[in-house]
Amino acid sequence: MARKEFKVAVVGATGAVGNMMVRVLEERAFPVGELTLLASARSVGKKMSFKGSEIPVQELTENSFAGIQVALFSAGGTISKKFAPIAARAGVVVIDNSSAFRMDPTVPLVVPEVNPEAALSHSGIIANPNCSTIQMVVALKPIQDAVGIRRIVVTTFQAVSGTGMKAIEELKVQVADIAAGREPKRQIYPHQIAFNCFPHIGAFLDNGFSEEEMKMDNETRKIFEDPEIKVCATTVRIPVFYGHSESLNIETRKPISASEARKLLGSAPGVKVIDEPASGGYPIPIQAAGTDDTYVGRIRRDPSVENGLAMWVVADNIRKGAASNAVQIAEMLVARGRL
Ligand code: A2P
Repeated sequence: MARKEFKVAVVGATGAVGNMMVRVLEERAFPVGELTLLASARSVGKKMSFKGSEIPVQELTENSFAGIQVALFSAGGTISKKFAPIAARAGVVVIDNSSAFRMDPTVPLVVPEVNPEAALSHSGIIANPNCSTIQMVVALKPIQDAVGIRRIVVTTFQAVSGTGMKAIEELKVQVADIAAGREPKRQIYPHQIAFNCFPHIGAFLDNGFSEEEMKMDNETRKIFEDPEIKVCATTVRIPVFYGHSESLNIETRKPISASEARKLLGSAPGVKVIDEPASGGYPIPIQAAGTDDTYVGRIRRDPSVENGLAMWVVADNIRKGAASNAVQIAEMLVARGRL
């Protein structure tokens, strides 16, 4: 019997994440019958390749969704707020990479390795979590299940691709300008990003945290369905193109040794442990880039609290942190006959 195929749309197809969504749909052999690529009017006339054919990009309008079964959105929160409900009303299952609906109690916030069941209760829209949250909860899920987590202190080292195509370009141009002895120009970021870093991702809020930091805080509790977990995040932009890194210190409810944690993580879905630090065996972004796994290393006891663990977590922010997680949600719905 022929395999069922689906009419799929990618909204924001020309962007850093949208581009990757198209590639990941092809690489992971998602059963696409027909692919519709949507972006702004500026992109009409562009073509993108998918499975050997060139597909024209169309302008996103209210009428773009007739006949579509699943739409992957990554064109920013404003576009999602307007068009995701329109698509959902047209019967499309929307998997939305923006932050527009993540904390909406009626919208599931899903990482397939962590809370796949949550997706099944959707009413048209499923939210893809923030990139930094995704890799953190994939790494912490086996520990949360085994011993419970009371508190997480996390510092991130985030790649510029998370800001989009223009930020990738800004880092490239600044590096070239500085190497050539020219004054670097700044457009996207509040400071020069080449050869620099800054603890500023999203706007700052009244409580002193940035929006990105509060996303990690709020989304973690929602995904784990555990209102008790406390999170203190510091999110930092660094001059790396692809791959976010995170330093985690966690306090668990029951004790767990570093070797027990290493063993649990070693068999956790979507996780690869690289933990031979003396010989340079720890996760690094240039190795994580281009893959869908979450890499964990430097697993050790944190002696500053009673039940403490420290670790280092790296993943490709555009793939596992965005595009691949969205495609995996769609795959899971197909596997369960829900698409
Ligand atoms: P476009 O390339 O036509 O501007 P990134 O985050 O990498 O900057 O990508 C943003 C994505 O969102 C792009 O695909 C961009 O399309 C899309 N986008 C931005 N504004 C709109 C809009 N008004 N309507 C549809 N797509 C949009």
